Amino acid sequence: MNIRQLLNDKVRAAMVAAGLPEDTNPAVSASSRPQFGDYQANGVMGAAKKLKTNPRELAQKVLDNLDISDIAEKLELAGPGFINIHLNKAWLAKQLAIAASDEHLNVSQNATPKTVVVDYSAPNLAKEMHVGHLRSTIIGDAVVRALEFRGEKVIRQNHMGDWGTQFGMLLAHLSDKLSSNEVAETALADLENFYREAKIRFDEEEGFADRARDFVVKLQSGDSDCLVLWKQFIDISIHHSEEIYNTLNVTLTRDDIMGESAYNPDLPNVINELMESGIAVEDQGAKVVFIKEMANKDGEPSVFIVQKSGGGYLYATTDLSACRYRSGDLGADRIIIFTDARQAHHFKQVEVTARNAGFLPETTGYDHCPFGMMMGDDGKPFKTRTGGTIKLAELLEEAVARATDLMAEKIADFSVEERSEIARKVGIGAVKYADLSKNRTSDYIFNWKTMLSFEGATAPYLQYAFTRVQSIFRKAGVEANSITADMIIAEPQEKALAVKLLQFEEVLDAVISECTPNLLCNYLYELASLYMSFYEACPILKDDITEDIKLSRLRLCNVIARTLEQGLDLLGIEVMERM
Ligand code: ARG
Repeated sequence: MNIRQLLNDKVRAAMVAAGLPEDTNPAVSASSRPQFGDYQANGVMGAAKKLKTNPRELAQKVLDNLDISDIAEKLELAGPGFINIHLNKAWLAKQLAIAASDEHLNVSQNATPKTVVVDYSAPNLAKEMHVGHLRSTIIGDAVVRALEFRGEKVIRQNHMGDWGTQFGMLLAHLSDKLSSNEVAETALADLENFYREAKIRFDEEEGFADRARDFVVKLQSGDSDCLVLWKQFIDISIHHSEEIYNTLNVTLTRDDIMGESAYNPDLPNVINELMESGIAVEDQGAKVVFIKEMANKDGEPSVFIVQKSGGGYLYATTDLSACRYRSGDLGADRIIIFTDARQAHHFKQVEVTARNAGFLPETTGYDHCPFGMMMGDDGKPFKTRTGGTIKLAELLEEAVARATDLMAEKIADFSVEERSEIARKVGIGAVKYADLSKNRTSDYIFNWKTMLSFEGATAPYLQYAFTRVQSIFRKAGVEANSITADMIIAEPQEKALAVKLLQFEEVLDAVISECTPNLLCNYLYELASLYMSFYEACPILKDDITEDIKLSRLRLCNVIARTLEQGLDLLGIEVMERM
């Protein structure tokens, strides 16, 4: 059920009946204030302007042709030509009853699913995952879950950085450690340390840099001993990432890995084709694409190097190959890539080149979705006190430790297992919600205190709202899903909740088209807040209400709880029965 779309279609039909062209935009949206109704159609003014006619008269004509008496209880012509739509309570009750007995909560399933390839997380395996990869991982996972919930076919692609010259020094260092009988797992237990050690040797130790370069050559020429060593390194590093995915409740698995190395065999073909078609040219020994479409203000084309002068391939070459693989082999209708904003220029270059080369048909969407940085309290990029990068694993451990302290008193009489379970869900949920609720493209300040607060838009607030609904069912002594009573929407708080609940699909569609999970975060917060006001205003368990009203309200509570749970699940945040 997408109310906005339904009304949009109905108003458009009325506009056409009133003499306007088929492609007029009714511009229906949810109203910002209750006095303007639940929805507004604002498209008449624009249409009247085009026709140079009086907007109010035109709006009246549209109203005369608009028959939605089953959906709306009142239509108003307001201001210069707005149409305010007040939804019918009986209709809302009927839609809610459908949501109550539907596993998808009245969110429809796309009958003709699109294939969407989503490239997210993509850590560099030479090092440990750091906070920069948190955003890509969790924003990407939320969008993926929303797509799947709407019935789209999603193919996850974890474009891990598992290739490149830095592996030369890492493999040289690893090979020495193994020769002195250390096991790979121990040597690579802390990738950050390992990388540092290798780098120091590379910079300072006589002969080491040459050996590192030899390793690069051997790796690239497919030397089998070298590949065994590389595979060992990659495996252990992937394992570190998997632990983090597990902690973060992220859906990525090993099967989703399609790292840079996987494109290696195709890179010579990419270059040959670009050279043959004249899209790339030789320039000072390198192969370069001069992109006219991205020229600067002096008219100089953007320079996109696709092969280095020594013959080496680049990040860019791999991404061109990936375009072809995703649209061709995987059959993508849409490709979505999540990385930090600094890579925006790179992906624009990839897209334009891939389209010109025929690697990416016009019909395949290509959305690079940049995100801003996580900042410390000082407004500078989030770092350790000594200025190092913060390991994601340590950040998440701290989150759980802080949640444990925070909850200690509240849940002191719960069992040890339940306490640690709750602390884990609250701590991890708080970090995720704080991040996901921010506007994707802006930088944001990471603050433990606000994210772990029980007030305001936070995971703990939402998790707590969920437990409050659960406690009502416990007190009422009913099994929530067994209630089949008619829904009655009478009080303003009930109506506000009904409208909000039925907007779930609308919100998910916006999350999917804009790749903005923050819209879902806001939605859940508004839903939880409406629930709190409903709870204050509308008694549920008191004796002075009829059994019909009591059952209807309990059923409403059930839809609220399920929507909260489902919505949080789409963000990868877990709920609990009590806290
Ligand atoms: N590994 C890269 C990084 O850490 C992100 C890769 C994103 N995906 C891609 N197709 N280039 O910045």
